[in-house]
Amino acid sequence: MSSACVFVHGDIRRRLQKSGLVLVFVLAFVLACHCCPDKCVCSSQTVKCQNQGLHAVPNSIPAKTKILFFTGNNISNINRASFPTRLELLTDLYLSGNNIEHVEAMGFDNLPKLSRLDLSNNNFQTFDESALPPDNNLEFLNLSRSFNNHSFADVVLDFLHSANLLHLTTLDLSNNDLVILPDGIFSSLSNLTSLSLQNSSLISIQNVTLKLPLLRDLDLRNNSLRTLHSSTLGELSAKPDLRLRLSGNPWRCNCIIDEMLMWLKNATQVMDRQELTCAEPEPLRREPLLQVELSQLNCSSDMERVLETSYVFLGLVLALIGVIFLLVLYLNRKGIKRWMYNIRDACRDHMEGYHYRYEINSDPRLANLSINSDV
Ligand SMILES: *[C@@H]1O[C@H](CO)[C@@H](O)[C@H](O)[C@H]1NC(C)=O
Ligand SMILES: *[C@@H]1O[C@H](CO)[C@@H](O)[C@H](O)[C@H]1NC(C)=O
Ligand SMILES: *[C@@H]1O[C@H](CO)[C@@H](O)[C@H](O)[C@H]1NC(C)=O
Ligand SMILES: *[C@@H]1O[C@H](CO)[C@@H](O)[C@H](O)[C@H]1NC(C)=O
Ligand SMILES: *[C@@H]1O[C@H](CO)[C@@H](O)[C@H](O)[C@H]1NC(C)=O
Ligand SMILES: *[C@@H]1O[C@H](CO)[C@@H](O)[C@H](O)[C@H]1NC(C)=O
Ligand SMILES: *[C@@H]1O[C@H](CO)[C@@H](O)[C@H](O)[C@H]1NC(C)=O
Ligand SMILES: *[C@@H]1O[C@H](CO)[C@@H](O)[C@H](O)[C@H]1NC(C)=O
Ligand SMILES: *[C@@H]1O[C@H](CO)[C@@H](O)[C@H](O)[C@H]1NC(C)=O
Repeated sequence: MSSACVFVHGDIRRRLQKSGLVLVFVLAFVLACHCCPDKCVCSSQTVKCQNQGLHAVPNSIPAKTKILFFTGNNISNINRASFPTRLELLTDLYLSGNNIEHVEAMGFDNLPKLSRLDLSNNNFQTFDESALPPDNNLEFLNLSRSFNNHSFADVVLDFLHSANLLHLTTLDLSNNDLVILPDGIFSSLSNLTSLSLQNSSLISIQNVTLKLPLLRDLDLRNNSLRTLHSSTLGELSAKPDLRLRLSGNPWRCNCIIDEMLMWLKNATQVMDRQELTCAEPEPLRREPLLQVELSQLNCSSDMERVLETSYVFLGLVLALIGVIFLLVLYLNRKGIKRWMYNIRDACRDHMEGYHYRYEINSDPRLANLSINSDV
C-alpha cells in the first residue's frame, strides 16, 4: 500500500485512538481505499503504469478502475495470479510491449467486464483457449506483432477458433508472420466487423471463411498475394458493403490474373484499387492494375489452344458434310446414272454434229478448193 494511504490511516488512528471502533474504521478504509499503486499514475477511473519495467501487475489496483494502461513493462506470463483482485469495472486493458510469452488458463478470469484488450507487441509462444471466461464480453482484440515467428502462429490462431469470442467486433492480426491461414479460422467470430491482416506475409486467402456476415472492413495491405482466385472473388462480390484494402501486394500480371482484373474494374469495394500495381512480369512492373488491358497479359498459349480446338471442330464439320454428300450420292446412284447417260447421249448427238462439220472442214480437197478460189 502507498505511503499516502498509511499516512491517512495513522491520522485516523490517532483521532480515534480511544474508540473501540478503530479496527472497524481501519478495515472500512482499507476496503474503500482508492490509493494509486507505486509507479502508477491514477486519474478518475484510469490507471497508467507505463514503461516501468514491472514484472507483474500491482495487487493494489483500485477496484473502481475502468481503464488500465500497463504497456512497456516486462510480464512474461499471464496466469491466474496476474490479476489477483477482481476488477469488476475494468473494460479496457492495454498490455502492449510486455514481452509476454505465455497466456495461461483463466489468466483474465478476474476481469469479467473486459471488452478491449491490447496484446500487441508481445512474444506469444502459448495462448490457452480458456484464458478468457466463456461468457466474456471481448469486443476488441489487438494481436498486432504479437508473436515472433510463424511457428507460433497456430497457437494464437487456435485461440481465436476455440475461445468463445462471440462479441468480438474488431481483430487486429497485422504484422505477424502468418503466411497461410488455417481453414475457417474466423468462422466462429460471428460478430466480427473489422479485420486487419496487414503485413502478415499471406500468400493466399483461399478457404479463409469470409462468410462473416457482418464484416465491413478487411485490410490485406502489404502481404504476398499474387492474385485472388475466382472462389474468393465470388465471396467478396457477395459483400457489397465491404471496404477492402489490397495495395502493397506483388500482383502477378499474367494470364492467371485476368478474372481478378475484370472484377477489379467494377469493384467499388476496393478502397485503394487505384494503388494496386503489378510486380511482374518485367514489362508491366509498377503498372497500375486498373490500366492493364487483358490483351497485355499475353494469354497466347490459351489463344492457341482455343484456335486449335476451333480448327479441329471445323475439320469435323467438313468431314461430316463430306460423308453426308457421299451418302446422298450413293442413295441417288440410279437417278445419277440415268442422268449421266442422258448427258452422255445428249453429248454424243451434239458431238456427232460437230464431228460432221469438222470432217467437212478438214477435207483437204475442199480446203484446197477454198484456197484456190481465194487466189
Ligand atoms: C525483463 O525480464 C527478464 C527476466 O524476467 C530480464 O532478463 C530482462 O532484462 C527484462 N527486460 C527489461 C526491459 O526489463
Ligand atoms: C494495435 O496495436 C498497434 C501497435 O500497438 C497499433 O499501431 C494499432 O493501431 C492497433 N490496432 C488497432 C485496430 O487499434
Ligand atoms: C522460431 O522460433 C523458434 C523458437 O524460438 C526457433 O527455434 C526457430 O528457429 C524460429 N524460426 C524462425 C524461422 O525464425
Ligand atoms: C453480437 O454482439 C451483440 C452485442 O455485443 C450480441 O447481443 C449478439 O448476441 C452477438 N451476436 C452473436 C451472433 O453472437
Ligand atoms: C511487418 O511484419 C514483420 C513481422 O512479420 C515486422 O518485422 C515488420 O516490422 C512489419 N513491417 C511493418 C512496416 O510494420
Ligand atoms: C481449399 O480447400 C480445398 C478443399 O477444402 C482444398 O482442396 C484446397 O487445397 C484448399 N486451398 C488452399 C489454398 O488451402
Ligand atoms: C507497406 O510496406 C511499405 C514498404 O515496406 C511501407 O512503406 C508501407 O508503409 C507499408 N504500408 C502499410 C500500410 O503497412
Ligand atoms: C458492375 O457492378 C454493377 C453493380 O455492382 C452490376 O450491376 C454490373 O453488372 C457490373 N458490371 C460488370 C461488367 O460486371
Ligand atoms: C507480351 O508479348 C510481347 C511480344 O512478344 C512483348 O513485347 C511484351 O513484353 C509481352 N508482355 C508481357 C507482359 O509479357
